[in-house]
Amino acid sequence: MNEIIFQGRKLKSKFSNLIKVKKYAEKIMNEKSRKQSLRMLSYGVYVLSSMSEGTYCVSTVTWVSQASFEPPLISVCIKRESASYEIVKKRGEYFLHILGENQQDMASSFFKPTVLEHGKLNGHEFRLYNELPLLKEVPAYLQCKVVEILENGDHPLFLAEVVDAVINYDCKPLELRKTNWSYGG
Ligand SMILES: Cc1cc2nc3c(=O)[nH]c(=O)nc-3n(C[C@H](O)[C@H](O)[C@H](O)COP(=O)(O)O)c2cc1C
Repeated sequence: MNEIIFQGRKLKSKFSNLIKVKKYAEKIMNEKSRKQSLRMLSYGVYVLSSMSEGTYCVSTVTWVSQASFEPPLISVCIKRESASYEIVKKRGEYFLHILGENQQDMASSFFKPTVLEHGKLNGHEFRLYNELPLLKEVPAYLQCKVVEILENGDHPLFLAEVVDAVINYDCKPLELRKTNWSYGG
């Protein structure tokens, strides 16, 4: 009797280990397919800029989408642990620069913190427009005013109205999938 109970226990613990291994394998598979499918979403590559209390921020962002025709709204998700998040939240407005397909180098220079040196931001020329840094050399840009911030998650969503849009020259926009970068998963 004792022996049967003992074996029964052993059997039970073997089964529970097997179930744990199976659940763990399923979790890994789910994470893998979640990452892979989220990385199949399509994105552009943009440069967001703002300024508050004399501090500039210029950063490359990809989680951007139009959110309404009328009024024209866009959403941009900005990493909470970033200077851009703090500055755009304080200032309530920003420029979104649209890059051309040959401007991958420019995009990569704004993965780093913003440095103003020799009158350039991370090596790129700009001018102040309404006390906001506006990059030269870009094909187009949008001037946006924040209307709402959704604080969920690690990249709060900034919903903003497009108050001005300027085209400097026509070209194909830079797309994330044409680079070897990825952001998402
Ligand atoms: C491919 C790629 C895409 C990115 N997309 C975003 C994005 O959509 N939103 C964001 O907040 N950061 C994004 N980042 C990270 C910012 O570019 C980076 O954190 C930036 O340097 C922030 O600078 P800051 O701390 O000066 O604001 C991305 C980075 C890479 C490499």
